[in-house]
Amino acid sequence: MKIDILTLFPKMFRGPFDESIIRRAQSKGLVEIKIHNLRDWAKDKRQTVDDRPFGGGTGMILMCQPVFDAVNELSQKAKSQKPKVVLLTPQGKTFNQKIARRLAKTENLIFVCGHYEGVDERIRKYLIDEEISIGDYVLTGGELPAMIVTDTIIRLIPGVLKKSAATQNESFSYYDNTYYHSKNRQKEKNKDINQLKRKLLEFPQYTRPVNFKGWKVPKILLSGNHKEIEKWRKKEALARTKTNRPDLLR
Ligand code: ADE
Repeated sequence: MKIDILTLFPKMFRGPFDESIIRRAQSKGLVEIKIHNLRDWAKDKRQTVDDRPFGGGTGMILMCQPVFDAVNELSQKAKSQKPKVVLLTPQGKTFNQKIARRLAKTENLIFVCGHYEGVDERIRKYLIDEEISIGDYVLTGGELPAMIVTDTIIRLIPGVLKKSAATQNESFSYYDNTYYHSKNRQKEKNKDINQLKRKLLEFPQYTRPVNFKGWKVPKILLSGNHKEIEKWRKKEALARTKTNRPDLLR
């Protein structure tokens, strides 16, 4: 997979992509991330990329020309299919794990980080394939959202995580017990299909020590009874979802 990111602030991306899993994914050749400065496509000496809005109003608007030129150039360089061009903007559809799974199957992605008061509407209309927001709040620009979306997608690429099962049984994925009961999978699935199909938050996890300052790990997790543990986890996941994200159960 190749991800091109168009931004006015390339330095912002230095840290997050140079650490941990994302760094390893790049060095293993599973993903190539390229950060580009939009000003490199500006036509004038001052490298102008924004201008005042027609009709008046506060703030500056990202101009068509540098964005169109940058996307066209990057698209021509793309190896296989035409890249999917995504604008990060608070007006986009809200990002979630389902969108991440879909984007993770895309060979070439171009992320355009919006800035200032907005982008010229013609960019949206004639260049952008999809608009994504990371939530109902307004950031100073699309850079942090682009990092969040990139991180979420990369960990879904096969081979990036050591245990691919880790992405199947986590919050916002359909609850699926393959990770714990691969042998009994079908049996378990038929048992309570409605519950399995719900989107649940992840169940509580514990590690050593068993007793920390008097707070003990639930006994069931030490029992070795996998069936009962599975039941407990499902119950806890459901209780947590009811409390923190009742909207997921509606
Ligand atoms: N730019 C500013 N706020 C944003 C948000 N919530 N999501 C995506 N891009 C943004």
